[in-house]
Amino acid sequence: MSKKDLDWANIGFQYRVTDKRYVSNYKDGEWDEGGLIEDPTITVSESANIMQYCQEIFEGMKAYTTVDGKIVTFRPDLNASRMADSAKRMVMPPFPEDRFVEAVDMTVKANADWVPPYGSGASLYIRPFMVGTAPVIGVQPASEFQFRVFTTPVGPYFKGGATPVAITVCDYDRAAPHGTGYIKAGLNYAMSLYQTVEAHKNGFAENMYLDAAERKYVEETGGSNILFVTKEGKLVVPKSNSILPSITRRSIVYVAENMLGIEVEERPVEFAEVPDFAECGLCGTAAVISPVGWIDDHGEKIVFGDGGVGPVTAKLYETLTGIQYGTIEAPEGWIHEIK
Ligand code: PLP
Ligand code: COI
Repeated sequence: MSKKDLDWANIGFQYRVTDKRYVSNYKDGEWDEGGLIEDPTITVSESANIMQYCQEIFEGMKAYTTVDGKIVTFRPDLNASRMADSAKRMVMPPFPEDRFVEAVDMTVKANADWVPPYGSGASLYIRPFMVGTAPVIGVQPASEFQFRVFTTPVGPYFKGGATPVAITVCDYDRAAPHGTGYIKAGLNYAMSLYQTVEAHKNGFAENMYLDAAERKYVEETGGSNILFVTKEGKLVVPKSNSILPSITRRSIVYVAENMLGIEVEERPVEFAEVPDFAECGLCGTAAVISPVGWIDDHGEKIVFGDGGVGPVTAKLYETLTGIQYGTIEAPEGWIHEIK
């Protein structure tokens, strides 16, 4: 094994072709045996469901090199079960959850030279996904599918790493109350591109979405859940049926309650109460925990503390990443070693 010659600390968050990817195809009611291949391209019919009606779901995970040199993933069983939930909503055949974890292991192992070293601040991003490959022309689900896992080494999702980001309240909606916001389907991201480009053009890292029914409650951003901390140091996380059940957020809630003695409230959060919070952060696999310095509300600035990284956000970040990189003992079953 010889590590790739990359400037690991400065690789950014972008796609790089790595050596191998895992592919399994579904036909005649079953998934084939699957295996690793080298070709990073996919050839499908021009009328494949993915090309016409966006039948696609995905997951986002990371492999880390721990302090003692192991390669690990973080709670991959939860990605497997969330992808099965996404599949059901998109009328796709769930990929068996044990096979999902095996496929991720195989892909990471085959690309071990691309797993960034401990201490570089980078990790190997893992993208399992599934697409409808069979041709359709009427609006209906495909009868054939491909499940694939690829990897790409990444640094921090937001430019500036741990520097607090600014986000902006978005006038477009992300997910309807009975829509697809709670699953990880490409369509949720396609419809966010317009306002993402706008936000970036205006100097904001992300859009903050409000609930589509009343525009009263905080939902999430385009690629992460949102956390708040009260002036008394309590963690408050928005609860909604139309946001993605973030594995990072669920882990942070557990860590706060069971390891750090921080009180947690999971409840609908009104946008009107946001200025009362002392700290705000974005959380997700790509975002990790990114502090928010301020929120733009149609030209009004909501600033958290002194606009820097708050103490609770810093503690949560330190503990979560310590667990992932093996410097803090993990709760049972959270760290999955790839041998
Ligand atoms: N919300 C959205 C819309 C996302 O795309 C992501 C990223 O996966 C998250 C939240 C965070 O989820 P997780 O912590 O499982 O990565
Ligand atoms: C992730 O955090 O894994 C995601 O899928 C978010 C995406 C915006 C990169």
